[in-house]
Amino acid sequence: MLPELQTEIPGPKSRSLAARLAAHECRNVTFMNPDFPIFWQRAAGNNVWDADGNRYLDFTSAFGVTGLGHSPPSVVSALHHQADQLIHGMGDVHPTELKVAVCEKISHLTFERWGCGPGKTILGNTGFEAIEAALKTSLLATGKPGVITFENAYHGLGYGTLAAGAMDRFRRPFASQLPDFGYSLPFPHCTCGQSRECTPTCLSQLDSLEAALRKKINKYPVGAILAEPIQGRGGKVVPPSGFLPMLRLICDETGTLLILDEILTGLNRCGSLFACEASTTIPDLVCLGKSLASGLPLSACVGPAELMDRAWPASDGEALHTTTHLGNPPACAMALAALDLHSAPELARQVCDRGEYFRSQIKKIDLPSCGRIRGRGLLLGVEILDADGRPDRAATSGFVVHSLKKGLIVLADSPTGNVLSIVPPFDISEDEMNCFASCLQEYLTSLPGSIS
Ligand SMILES: Cc1ncc(COP(=O)(O)O)c(C=O)c1O
Repeated sequence: MLPELQTEIPGPKSRSLAARLAAHECRNVTFMNPDFPIFWQRAAGNNVWDADGNRYLDFTSAFGVTGLGHSPPSVVSALHHQADQLIHGMGDVHPTELKVAVCEKISHLTFERWGCGPGKTILGNTGFEAIEAALKTSLLATGKPGVITFENAYHGLGYGTLAAGAMDRFRRPFASQLPDFGYSLPFPHCTCGQSRECTPTCLSQLDSLEAALRKKINKYPVGAILAEPIQGRGGKVVPPSGFLPMLRLICDETGTLLILDEILTGLNRCGSLFACEASTTIPDLVCLGKSLASGLPLSACVGPAELMDRAWPASDGEALHTTTHLGNPPACAMALAALDLHSAPELARQVCDRGEYFRSQIKKIDLPSCGRIRGRGLLLGVEILDADGRPDRAATSGFVVHSLKKGLIVLADSPTGNVLSIVPPFDISEDEMNCFASCLQEYLTSLPGSIS
């Protein structure tokens, strides 16, 4: 449904809640200014309602979690049913049947589907926990502590993930507490608009990256390469199509593990069940999170049974890696319902088609400030440029505020802050996409100096 606003944005209730929150929440957590935030009260499908009764369209899927829409009915009824049965258990001591079923289902959808036999899973709550489980697995399996990551990657903000490699702004304040085992290399950008065949510019980036990777692996004890198939928070950066196959080859030749972070790109977001499937690359370990339970925190680090068994000893009564909420029953119940929906073969096609439509509508904005469209499927980014064709951070954040006042929830990212992030629910309609495109066109046309 299109937005419907009842008050100025933010409305009076949101403003008063912001004042109360500012008094009692650490000030670094929730960004506040006269235009931000709105306080969410309920959500359904592609819409969110705030505390003042305003209805918004969500172009973020709430950080990529609600690709299936907010509160899909089958997921909600799984939650209701589970809430009556068991809310909290003892995940790594006395587990539930739900945990059995979730681990089985994740195995079916990943390594079994990829023809590698059964997968084994370590469940976690948030995304960074799954990455840290993968880092531990790689050390145990290879005996080598080094990890190669990519500049502008985002794997979450735990100390393990920050140490492996993270954007400088997240890492720098804590650098003195971080161990030194990560080596960061440039993430290659596909410059040919994602046609199947990459241009020589793309290929030469891969050549120099391959040389740099081999050099690092020869010089340091590197156990794993950790990569996002498409950089999300780094600005929806699609690498050349040969990137993942090249990583796979180097890993095979050097006995290094390939860890793919599919926390954002996985579960149909990029138009295939997992983004790595576009280049038929099978990782050694894959990390899932975000939309896994469609709204409750649940993450997973998954690897082939042989690798997981080689890395981890049998439990002697005390798990080496666990959390209090591991295998949380409502989260597992929701994940089973969500994974059933994700398994529908037509969903990936739908995401591709809607992503293409979204691109076509944005491409119609014939203004120099509307730059390239990045991404794949419904993980899209639009570059906003100034009159000299440079990244325009101010205009980009201006649109985030402008669109919120029109009832659209949009975020921006990339190191230069000039990429509008478009991560809508998979059921986004043509009318809803047109609404975004016309709001962007109207905004960019209103900028001083705009010329078409
Ligand atoms: C690719 C990727 N990996 C890991 C994470 C971290 O997940 P979480 O915030 O749940 O720890 C994120 C979060 O945005 C992400 O986009």
